[in-house]
Amino acid sequence: MSTRKRSILLRDLKNYLTFLKDYGYSEIPSELGSTLKIQSGTNKKSNYSIGIDKRLNMETKQKLTKKSNISIEEVREELGDCTRCNLHKDRKTIVFGSGNPNADLVFVGEGPGADEDEQGFPFVGRAGKKLTEIIEKGMNLNREKDTYICNIVKCRPPNNRDPKPDEITACKPFLIKQLQAIQPKAIVALGKPAASTLLGRTVPIMKERGNWYEYEGIPLMLTLHPAYLLRAYTIENRRNVMNDMNKVLKKLKQ
Ligand code: URA
Repeated sequence: MSTRKRSILLRDLKNYLTFLKDYGYSEIPSELGSTLKIQSGTNKKSNYSIGIDKRLNMETKQKLTKKSNISIEEVREELGDCTRCNLHKDRKTIVFGSGNPNADLVFVGEGPGADEDEQGFPFVGRAGKKLTEIIEKGMNLNREKDTYICNIVKCRPPNNRDPKPDEITACKPFLIKQLQAIQPKAIVALGKPAASTLLGRTVPIMKERGNWYEYEGIPLMLTLHPAYLLRAYTIENRRNVMNDMNKVLKKLKQ
């Protein structure tokens, strides 16, 4: 492995461990079913710690047998140090995706913001904390273990503007390949740009959220983006998102 590849790998690993620690994890599972310590002692107590967890061992083993022609690592490798659109000029980091590549559930957002660009992981800023809350408290799932999270574009659009059509076109093949590699039971599109990208048409999200669609045969639920929810934090919007997520939970159990 070249020195450059090695240093990128090490930086990504460091960011990933920091990300896990920020979310309260104190241990990570090793492939052998034991655990590796991230850091002992000072971490805040997590109610979703993933230490030695029988549930994890069972589920992970089952899910690792999923068949796919392409792995998530191969998709990341193909993306490389991407310069396919102008977004690469201002980005600090490519925000490829995070979570379990064998998960049954994938959330698709719009694009990285400043925090994500800095840390290299999707949904780690304010909207990310809201999304984590929806997943962990609202759905009683574990963000890292039960879901995979990515965006329609992997680099931050300047000033948090919406991604442009040519940027989405350049990046969409990698989203498609991520979904092919993961083969989830359900996808959740967070907000209008994600919904419109996956359905290939302009989606009026307030009208169409809460309905099931399909993406390449995979059930696709449309819901509000957590950043919108934070901006319009009404009882109605919160209730709508929770209703949408309850439909997703029901679908995952089928
Ligand atoms: N908003 C998104 O759509 N994606 C992120 O990763 C963060 C905020």
